[in-house]
Amino acid sequence: MTDYFRRHLGAKLFLSHLAIILVGMTVLTIASQIILPSSFNRHMGGMMGNGMGMGNPGFGYAGPMSQVYHDFRASFNEALIYATIAAVSVALLLSVFFSRRVIAPVRAMTQATQRIAEGRNDERVNVSGEDELAQLALHFNQMAEKLDQIESMRRQLIGDVSHELRTPLTAIKGSMEGLMDGILPATADTFQQIHTEADRLNRLVDDLQELSRVEARSFNLDVRAVDISALIKTVTKRMASHAESKRITLDLELAANLPHILADEDRATQVLTNLLGNALQYSPENGRVTISARQAGNKIQISVHDIGIGIPQEHLAHIFDRFYRVDKSRSRQSGGGSGIGLTIARALVEAQGGRIWAESAGAEEGSTFTFTLPTAK
Ligand SMILES: Nc1ncnc2c1ncn2[C@@H]1O[C@H](COP(=O)(O)OP(=O)(O)OP(=O)(O)O)[C@@H](O)[C@H]1O
Ligand SMILES: [Mg+2]
Repeated sequence: MTDYFRRHLGAKLFLSHLAIILVGMTVLTIASQIILPSSFNRHMGGMMGNGMGMGNPGFGYAGPMSQVYHDFRASFNEALIYATIAAVSVALLLSVFFSRRVIAPVRAMTQATQRIAEGRNDERVNVSGEDELAQLALHFNQMAEKLDQIESMRRQLIGDVSHELRTPLTAIKGSMEGLMDGILPATADTFQQIHTEADRLNRLVDDLQELSRVEARSFNLDVRAVDISALIKTVTKRMASHAESKRITLDLELAANLPHILADEDRATQVLTNLLGNALQYSPENGRVTISARQAGNKIQISVHDIGIGIPQEHLAHIFDRFYRVDKSRSRQSGGGSGIGLTIARALVEAQGGRIWAESAGAEEGSTFTFTLPTAK
């Protein structure tokens, strides 16, 4: 029995109603014991004797009025019993009604939770009204929505990763089979090809590891005041030989007296290296890449502009998505990347309180990548 009450909200609700009724009845009974005799006597015009004004009117008086009082008292008690029965019945009905109203949505949510635990992430509950239960249902649905998104992202990621891994693996396997069948000559060139593909695989795995760290925000930022002009010059110097090999001119346009930025120096360097690497990669020989920095309010804006292959309008919104490449076959042939670089760059910039975006007038029109970082005060 106690187990039943412990497990059912409706039974608890009924018990609480019952407790209120019992208290009410007890107060009523005690009050009637104390007040009723004197009140009755007063209303009867003191016909039952003054000496017993505050006592029981029947006490010491055996006349007809005593009988009247006893009859009245009996009727009063009877009414009290009926009232108690009626109150208990109403309490029972009310607790059934309220518990249904409360329990039904809670039960629906319990069932939905179980179905989500079984992997059905499209499960949602109905939201009606505006009370706390409706709020709970609303938040429950939001949570389910988020779980659904995470699950589909996970599926998408596994699909993308398998696809990306398959390409170099297929190439390596193909070359090995060619070698074994004697179709491919066992020359340094063939081995170099295999080595390049293995290297690609290696880079991809490194990038994926970095991406997962960055997206999970499981990296430490060593934020401090950094001289942005010096940082840009260092990165440019480091990339100079790469630019020279494609006969690309590197230009610097740094505003005078730039304040320091508040950032993690290594991470800011990583972002700039990434953008500069792309600009060089997607520029033809004899191109020109300009790196500029200027202050805009309490941010420093750093731009990398190239006059390379540009980005068609419809791709601009997606190039920061992971594995997104404008021209997959072209970036593969040119020993190109896997479309993770910009995703990592965006995560790093945003983690440091900045923004990153790309602009391009279209294919063959060059592109400009800009990111901001807060100034140090
Ligand atoms: N400066 C640029 N000019 C033209 N297209 C660009 C430029 N930078 C990026 N892109 C386009 O955006 C895509 C995504 O760039 P991202 O750096 O993320 O990947 P990736 O360079 O292909 O590979 P990696 O992960 O090795 O950097 C590129 O594949 C390319 O199509
Ligand atoms: Mg890149």
